[in-house]
Amino acid sequence: MKYDFDRVVDRYGTYSAKWDSIRLLMPPAQKPIIPLMVADMDFRTAQPILDAMHRVADFGMYGYTAAWAEPEYAASVVRWFKERFAWEFSPEAVVYSNGTIEALNCAVRTFSNVGDGVILCRPVYGHFTQAIENECHRRVVDCHLLCDEEGRYSVDFDQLEALCADPANRIFVLCSPHNPVGRVWEKEELRRMAAICKAHDVLLISDEVHCDIRRKGVAHYPIASLVRDQTNIITLTAVNKSFNLAGLQCSNAIIPDPFLRARFKREFGDRMPTPFAVAALIAAYGQGGEWLEQVNDYIDGNIDFALDFLKQNLPWVKACRPQGTYILWLDFSACGLPDAEIHARIYDRALVLAQDGVVHDPGQGQCFQRLCVPCARSVLAEALGRIAAAFADLKL
Ligand SMILES: Cc1ncc(COP(=O)(O)O)c(C=O)c1O
Repeated sequence: MKYDFDRVVDRYGTYSAKWDSIRLLMPPAQKPIIPLMVADMDFRTAQPILDAMHRVADFGMYGYTAAWAEPEYAASVVRWFKERFAWEFSPEAVVYSNGTIEALNCAVRTFSNVGDGVILCRPVYGHFTQAIENECHRRVVDCHLLCDEEGRYSVDFDQLEALCADPANRIFVLCSPHNPVGRVWEKEELRRMAAICKAHDVLLISDEVHCDIRRKGVAHYPIASLVRDQTNIITLTAVNKSFNLAGLQCSNAIIPDPFLRARFKREFGDRMPTPFAVAALIAAYGQGGEWLEQVNDYIDGNIDFALDFLKQNLPWVKACRPQGTYILWLDFSACGLPDAEIHARIYDRALVLAQDGVVHDPGQGQCFQRLCVPCARSVLAEALGRIAAAFADLKL
């Protein structure tokens, strides 16, 4: 089956956080606003997933649902990670959660105390900061990523070691693949991170929700699959990003160590998925591979298109080709304009909604913009064209 990702689908009136929020929150504009700020796709999901959810809808009863009541649920997760990532764990290790950030919150609350330090490598997905500081009342400790001339990011291992050695810092939250900078971490980097955490008894929470979206030929390694001792590792996974199912809130924390898992579950309780989520996950992990391959090809094409467009039309915008995710992390600083002016040109003049860099990097993200590009190529072309026009008066 060949999916048509070029088709522009009207998502207005579908309770979409990305599209329907525009009408409520933005003043009416003279031309349609293009939202590229939310990490979900403007593509219909795989047909087997739709079929599975239609069967649930047609049944007509939507009573209480339990992921553990359907053994195929955990078995599907186990098979997916074994076959695609050579990572083996038992079905008991799979803990359903209605949202990755829910699970992150619970892990932070369970394994640290109010005021403790939680290490992040910024720039990193802004909700980590919100969850850690506002919801859990812990302190974010920034082990800032290093960036080379080509815009390639890496972990500052000396700093990570020093921060993990400080007993005030109890947890390291890794984003792997990394949102927003697009790194897919290499085996040796991951092994080093895991060894540092283990040596200092720091809990390692690895958010791997972007693991299925990667450029062709790039391999992802679940960090837990690279170490024998997983007693301090919680991996957060989801079908949300991979299959455009974020509205179903279907995530799974993988906690192979029984003691760690028992402590987590005591705090977390038993979360109930909807019957749609159970059916969708089984279909996605069982029959979604063909769609995933095609969507990855299309996203690769979008990324190449966007980077080529920027090179031709806005060569001063610094952008590194992301190895994973469908996210571009763009550095506009070379234009010399203040952050607010860059924002105004993109959001108010071009009418493209991106996300300000400070959301993901409050200290150093000024002049950066995050752009999510899993949309029809024609929409992406229109958005980039408008952004280029909004800066056309600059002689750079
Ligand atoms: C790295 C990362 N983790 C978590 C989430 C949110 O996941 P969920 O909707 O399952 O809470 C996102 C969404 O963009 C993300 O990029």
